[in-house]
Amino acid sequence: MEWGMANRLAQLIQPDGHALFLPIDHGYFQGPTRKLEKPGETIRPLLPYADALFVTRGVLRASVDPGDSKPVILRVSGGTSMVGKDLANEGITTSMEEAVRLNASAVGISVFVGSDYEKESLLNLAKLVDEGERYGIPVMAVTAVGKEMEKRDARYLALACRIAAELGARVVKTYWCQNFEKVTGGCPVPVLMAGGPQVNTELEIFEFVHDGMQNGSIGVNLGRNIWQNDFPVAMIKAIRAVVHENAAPKEAQKIYDGEKGSRAKKS
Ligand code: 5RP
Repeated sequence: MEWGMANRLAQLIQPDGHALFLPIDHGYFQGPTRKLEKPGETIRPLLPYADALFVTRGVLRASVDPGDSKPVILRVSGGTSMVGKDLANEGITTSMEEAVRLNASAVGISVFVGSDYEKESLLNLAKLVDEGERYGIPVMAVTAVGKEMEKRDARYLALACRIAAELGARVVKTYWCQNFEKVTGGCPVPVLMAGGPQVNTELEIFEFVHDGMQNGSIGVNLGRNIWQNDFPVAMIKAIRAVVHENAAPKEAQKIYDGEKGSRAKKS
């Protein structure tokens, strides 16, 4: 691997081989998502605990201090919205030249395997990989399911992750599922887990992140279940402990409860 590519990956994946990416890209198709109306304010207390930010160029420029940031994974696919016809009909929204200008450590693109736009999204990934390899910029593929959350089983996710890796993604982001080892076992590049919509209890998150880490994932790209939580700093600290310190779910819960208690007292 060439130096630039290796150096950028090393900015994202920490010396322990694990990573906690903080995605704040949701607005590119959801608009002002709850608790992300002002992304700069949302991320300020969370940044110290994140290894990288997943963000569009618009929010990066408007809301992230260039003098006080974390490595950036630039979201470069889009062109659809929640109220449009089909979320899968994405194109590439940002050039590789712009990614270089913004000093991105990687670029990220969604692929929609099994959708009406499967071919287009996969060819977009392949094109982006060609450009990324030219500049030494890794591509993170996001295995998107649109509104069809029931697609999140091991058979489907293993298929989608493997295809993304075959087309040249250096890292793949997918969803956790039962039998997650089938997903990581069939994917020759590092796999990270997204969180999905906010769930009922924090413990559910700690449990799936822990299970995924035990079964071959290198970490998380987890947004709403951090910044939509009432105690986002407590949440990111607890998840960080699972990702980087191999904390068990109950230990993570203790970290969360302790941090939540001290923050509640201060307010
Ligand atoms: C949204 C994304 C997000 O980066 C991804 O879904 C992770 O965020 P969350 O944990 O909130 O699901 O690709 O377009």
